[in-house]
Amino acid sequence: MQQAYQAHNKVHTSEGMITKMAKVLYITANPNSVEDSFGLSVGQTFVDAYRQANPQDEVVRVDLFKEDIPMIDGTVLDAWNKLRQGTAFGDLSPEAQAKVGRMGEVLDQFLEADRYVFVTPMWNLSFPPVVKAYIDNVLIAGKTFKYTEAGPAGLLNGKKVLHIQARGGMYSEGPAVDFEFGDKYLKAVMNFIGITDYETLAVEGMNALPAEAENIKAKAKERAVEIAKTFGK
Ligand SMILES: Cc1cc2nc3c(=O)[nH]c(=O)nc-3n(C[C@H](O)[C@H](O)[C@H](O)COP(=O)(O)O)c2cc1C
Repeated sequence: MQQAYQAHNKVHTSEGMITKMAKVLYITANPNSVEDSFGLSVGQTFVDAYRQANPQDEVVRVDLFKEDIPMIDGTVLDAWNKLRQGTAFGDLSPEAQAKVGRMGEVLDQFLEADRYVFVTPMWNLSFPPVVKAYIDNVLIAGKTFKYTEAGPAGLLNGKKVLHIQARGGMYSEGPAVDFEFGDKYLKAVMNFIGITDYETLAVEGMNALPAEAENIKAKAKERAVEIAKTFGK
């Protein structure tokens, strides 16, 4: 299939088909290398299979441990307050401009995407704190959700999320089910902004059953390839 030309996010092929190019954000929150991470290695398998199934799409890596993801702090709250009261962006302190400006970039990149793949390790029953910081950059009233008379409403309808989460123990079934807070929270906030098509791929039990670890990874990779076949649809 030959790509004739690209315009407005569409690929016109020699067969005359028009395929919409989608943008996938591959958001990772792990300082380890792919080789040393169960989650990242399953994530890599997913990305490779996704690219094969959807060569026209763009997959953009967002490495939360390398990128500047501002935290909501006193400077940011004060700047938001001033902006609400009519202060011009250019009249904010240089520090506030840098932080609020960067938060706007993180948000814009999120808004422009069609699909999201999060890869996180379970750390202390949840995900690394930079994921919460990232969520605080993208849950912005008027952009990803709005307040209505019937309560808050999500604005990102029609998008999709896959969360690949690596956990040392077992949390999808058994006595620890109620102790998993990272995936449940991510799902809740994605639903809150309108993304109800949310799937979890748990890579779990490697520390509890070390002899099974390679087998667990291999099975998770198979599942990743399966999900990749339909994630672009
Ligand atoms: C700081 C830290 C906290 C962890 N907390 C938990 C935990 O609460 N529950 C659990 O089952 N495993 C826990 N683990 C184990 C990891 O979830 C496990 O090693 C997983 O494979 C990490 O993902 P990765 O292989 O993609 O890096 C923790 C590991 C680290 C480094």
